[in-house]
Amino acid sequence: MENLTTEYLGLTLKSPLIVSSSRLTSTTGQLKEAEESGAGAVVLKSLFEEQINHHIHSFQSAPGSYPEADDYLSNYIHDNSVEAYLELIRSAKRNLSIPVIPSINCYTAKGWTGFAKNIEDAGADAIEINVFFLPVDRKKSAAESEKLYFDLIENLKRTVKIPIVLKIGYRFSNILYMIDQFYIRGIRGVVMFNRFYEPDIDINRMEVIPASILSQDNERRYVLRWIGMASAQDIKIDISASTGVHSGQDAVKYLLAGATTVQVCSVLYNKGISYIKTMNGQISDWMSSKGFKNIHDFRGKLNYLNYEKPTVFERTQFMKYFSSFE
Ligand SMILES: Cc1cc2nc3c(=O)[nH]c(=O)nc-3n(C[C@H](O)[C@H](O)[C@H](O)COP(=O)(O)O)c2cc1C
Repeated sequence: MENLTTEYLGLTLKSPLIVSSSRLTSTTGQLKEAEESGAGAVVLKSLFEEQINHHIHSFQSAPGSYPEADDYLSNYIHDNSVEAYLELIRSAKRNLSIPVIPSINCYTAKGWTGFAKNIEDAGADAIEINVFFLPVDRKKSAAESEKLYFDLIENLKRTVKIPIVLKIGYRFSNILYMIDQFYIRGIRGVVMFNRFYEPDIDINRMEVIPASILSQDNERRYVLRWIGMASAQDIKIDISASTGVHSGQDAVKYLLAGATTVQVCSVLYNKGISYIKTMNGQISDWMSSKGFKNIHDFRGKLNYLNYEKPTVFERTQFMKYFSSFE
């Protein structure tokens, strides 16, 4: 086995593979299995902003939310208390030696952020903020919508000392600008990218239904460009790749594009948490075949800075293929 050791957020990981936030990281047993299978770190299932606010006040509907969503949330909140979440962090810290990264899922920049201190006090090694402010107000400019991210960071930075990671979507006018601004405000890492709930339509039942919950193999195409370009910037922000990693070879692609770590979720739903062991083996086999002894021997080798033809990252039109593709 080659050396897969990786530095992420100032923490030393035995492998660049991280089990990303989902129901698969919601019990100490699952987290232990992830560690035993060779995961470098675990991101706990997200605690929702509503859960925290419920904990702080008695639960009230957020303005503009929907009654049926409130029912769902009330039940969810009842079954998934904040105390239980803090206990999950403490238990994970007692039972695991790999870094434990709790996650908060939020859609506003205020109110709940003070709670991050409880997470820090429970022993978290870092905190991941799963953040997406869906811009649905046609009167609000992109800059106004994006300012919410900066307010959020400033609130959190006043509250905790542990590294903060932002798990973002890719729908920004200028992703590289945003990452730069996150870095200036003290963010240590970005997860690129979250894969959000999206609607689909069932034309037989005439209903709006969730689009596929698990990712497909071809979804890396949206991610690779931005990792290749973001990792080439001269700022010290770690990039954790997420979406569409279904094998060790897929993880190698993101590492070559400059990711510091690679998060996995759907593949583990399909193949079980223990599949991390196979994926670590695939990364190691590829490294041996290329003569690389350490991850840093090849990380970023094919990013915008290091690749001999960086303009491939800027190309958006298939000019060559439009003229010849049949
Ligand atoms: C069933 C399910 C639940 C998820 N729950 C969360 C969550 O609570 N918080 C979060 O940040 N991401 C959540 N995610 C997103 C994953 O962590 C991951 O970013 C996404 O699935 C893309 O990675 P993949 O292609 O490896 O699945 C969830 C994904 C799935 C499939």
